[in-house]
Amino acid sequence: MDTTTGSGGGAESGRTSLVTGGTGGIGRAVAMRLARRGDRVIIVGRDRERGEAVVAALHAIHPARHLFLPADLSLLADTDRVATLIAASTRRLDAAVFCAGVLSTIPEWTEEGLERALALNYLSRFLLARRLIPLLRAAPSGRLVLVANAGRYKDSLDFDDLQHRRGRRGLAVSGRTQFANDLLAVELAERLIGTRVEVTCVFPGVTRTEVFRNAVGLPRLVRLAVPLLQHLIRQTPEEAAETPAYLAGDERATGTNGMFFGPRRKVIAVPERASNPERRRLLWEASEALAAPYLANLAGTGGVAAARPSAGSPPAAA
Ligand SMILES: NC(=O)c1ccc[n+]([C@@H]2O[C@H](COP(=O)([O-])OP(=O)(O)OC[C@H]3O[C@@H](n4cnc5c(N)ncnc54)[C@H](OP(=O)(O)O)[C@@H]3O)[C@@H](O)[C@H]2O)c1
Repeated sequence: MDTTTGSGGGAESGRTSLVTGGTGGIGRAVAMRLARRGDRVIIVGRDRERGEAVVAALHAIHPARHLFLPADLSLLADTDRVATLIAASTRRLDAAVFCAGVLSTIPEWTEEGLERALALNYLSRFLLARRLIPLLRAAPSGRLVLVANAGRYKDSLDFDDLQHRRGRRGLAVSGRTQFANDLLAVELAERLIGTRVEVTCVFPGVTRTEVFRNAVGLPRLVRLAVPLLQHLIRQTPEEAAETPAYLAGDERATGTNGMFFGPRRKVIAVPERASNPERRRLLWEASEALAAPYLANLAGTGGVAAARPSAGSPPAAA
């Protein structure tokens, strides 16, 4: 079965970028901006119709072999499958911008036994990053951009109950996945020192997308208020895409490894809790254990440094 939709044609800049969640919202707008820069863009999402429409729109901006790869990124098996397809479709990735996500206030569990918001908003990003780092390292200046809530959530991760089986409903269901992105950005950035890959984490700003309509578990009153909320939110997806697209493709964004950003390219101080070595270690080890079946074939350490460097000595990434 052919699960991909491509769009072939004209001259290419040589750059290839990946955008997850490229079928809608901020991801779609990031994809458009990157195509305007001359990138070939690969988008991932579930909705085939919207995916195909985005590829057509990308092609209209800049003819290139843009590609839509349908996948459910709340499943690690599907994340792994799409990582394999991406690797088969390009020899290098200049940027990977992770936008796919959901706002959820109730825990749900996938057929893989993982809490859905954690799997989609964080774990699939961990797995995709690990699988794609070799491709990012093959680019002259590889950029990995985590679009989340950079620095805005407290540390509510419970490593004794990562799948939230005993956890409460509420904002923490999503909040902990956003904090996990903070820890991942800092950890990956450190493990990639000495390579040409740079990792950043972004809070795009509150944006008029489908995120509230797509939200899971919002109380009835809030759900009823969503149309009004949407009306009140001023920032458009195009505006929200500015920072992630800049970090993904602009030469001036070199030297940003490990940094957090907000709307309009504003630098956000990395909170101490996101740099906490022990919390980073716990999350990294738990993530490696959960994604273990899909990491087995990575060569060596998969292009990231294996261990934390001792103070003052940057690691050499393998
Ligand atoms: N909007 C805001 O105010 C705001 C604020 C802070 C942070 N963010 C973050 O920004 C990112 C983008 O948000 P948005 O506002 O653009 O949201 P959105 O309009 O709801 O778009 C979400 C995107 O994720 C994809 N997606 C959802 N579930 C998926 C799944 N299981 N597998 C694969 N793709 C999936 C959707 O595509 P399909 O439906 O085709 O699967 C869609 O392309 C999110 O990570 C969000 O947390 C947004």
